Amino acid sequence: MSLQERFDELHGRHARAELAGGEERVRRQHKAGKKTARERLDLLLDPGSFMEIDRFVVHQSHDFGMAEQKIPGDGVVTGSGRVHGRPVFVFAQDFTVFGGSLSEAYARKICKIMDLAMKTGAPIIGLNDSGGARIQEGVVSLAGYADIFLRNTLASGVVPQISAIMGPCAGGAVYSPAITDFTFMVQNTSYMFVTGPDVIKVVTHETVSAEELGGATTHGTTSGVAHFAADSEEECLALIRELLTFLPANNMEDPPLRPTLDPVDRRDEALQSIVPDQPHQAYNMLAIIRTVVDDHYFLEVQAAFAPNVIVGFGRLGGRSVGIVANQPAHLAGCLDINASVKAARFVRFCDCFNIPLVTFEDVPGFLPGTAQEHGGIIKHGAKLLYAFCEATVPKLTVITRKAYGGAYCVMSSKHIRGDANFAYPTAEIAVMGPDGAVNILYRRELEAAPDPAAFREATTREYREKFANPWVAAERGYVDEVIEPRDTRARLIAALELTHTKRDANPPKKHGNIPL
Ligand code: HXC
Repeated sequence: MSLQERFDELHGRHARAELAGGEERVRRQHKAGKKTARERLDLLLDPGSFMEIDRFVVHQSHDFGMAEQKIPGDGVVTGSGRVHGRPVFVFAQDFTVFGGSLSEAYARKICKIMDLAMKTGAPIIGLNDSGGARIQEGVVSLAGYADIFLRNTLASGVVPQISAIMGPCAGGAVYSPAITDFTFMVQNTSYMFVTGPDVIKVVTHETVSAEELGGATTHGTTSGVAHFAADSEEECLALIRELLTFLPANNMEDPPLRPTLDPVDRRDEALQSIVPDQPHQAYNMLAIIRTVVDDHYFLEVQAAFAPNVIVGFGRLGGRSVGIVANQPAHLAGCLDINASVKAARFVRFCDCFNIPLVTFEDVPGFLPGTAQEHGGIIKHGAKLLYAFCEATVPKLTVITRKAYGGAYCVMSSKHIRGDANFAYPTAEIAVMGPDGAVNILYRRELEAAPDPAAFREATTREYREKFANPWVAAERGYVDEVIEPRDTRARLIAALELTHTKRDANPPKKHGNIPL
């Protein structure tokens, strides 16, 4: 073969890889409102930064006529690139090639990328669009998935792992994302399920649409499987780029600094009146968070799932922080099962990746009731308690109003290694709210009192004066400082500057046994 023939062969193979499943399937992909794997990578990565590997890999299967159907790349595009100038490793599944289904060769490509990411300490981003295990390959394909799951697990807490679901994903194509740190979905074009509607119909006789079963709204609001639900693929990929700006490349690094012109000592008069005078009146904790963080910018995670707790990323004085906050505007900010699980996972992510935690607290307690008790609020609430106790990153807390009962202990209290614990003058720190306490303490007296209403009012007032304030806790050093709300930003940034070099450790062990 002459030199020219060799180059022609190379160009031919390149072109075949580019064509993927063929023009007709690419047309179908576009018609369904979806982009191809390569188009997605163009949007995800800095222009011109993508370096593809294994472009000529093909599957080795001979059964079911597969020997005649070999497409260079075999349905997944893998390589490295940059996001805002920082290296990342990527794989993008190509639905136009055998429905993006996973073969042995395809799995090896993904594993190679994951191994490189682990060795070099860079995030892994997977763009998923796959029908799961390639049926023609049988157990060999299942083995490929298991190889990926193992790497997902070993990489967990070492490099950030991000999954975007960009089509109908089933079987193994959803279990790998489930192990990763953040899952993004796209409204109306992406689905996640272990088994699809057709199988469900046969097995349980239940009729359900793909959207209802596993669309972005379902997983963003009901199951909590998805962390972000974007309106379009463009928005989804831009959001992934945005998320990465808050994260370090690996667990040995600190998150990147983003200098800001927002003054570190900015005082906000608006904060003086966000927490209402009336203890039962709701307010929006997001207003406090957005007022305090750099440039008022907060990237909320799992916004539509368990909205009684807020989690997300912001910056204080240019440093990334993970924010966990009770939301009095939903369920009065109570911690329930979903909120506990949501916040616990977020706390653990931040702790893995050296992202300080800032907690805004206004919580009347764990949500009471049989549904919660029978659903296991005890073990699920314990996840959040465990996560905050275990975390060794800097932990800053602001009690804005209620810090009642077990929830006081859970929400990054001083006793579980909170580094700087502030309270507003409106803080109420007690075993429970005044109404419940008076009922228990004075049940007999209330029954015997000639004027029970007056007696209740007097005892409630007494209880409020004694406990519904920050002073008892401050006198014991459980609260480091009672601050004016207008000073929240300045105090948090000062505390972060002091604590960002913090070194703390847990006792040596194989791993703890978080109550899963
Ligand atoms: C091989 C597959 C495939 C698969 C789809 N295709 N899934 N080929 N193996 N798993 C092929 C189709 O034959 C078709 O080929 C093309 O991909 C597009 O598929 P369609 O069905 O036409 O597309 P659509 O109607 O959009 O439906 C997409 C789908 C559906 C919902 C993903 O294809 C589907 O239900 N597939 C099977 C899903 C599944 O059960 N996978 C196995 C899971 S078990 P042509 O040639 O027509 O373009 C698993 C185990 C892992 O993954 C372990 C977990 C712990």
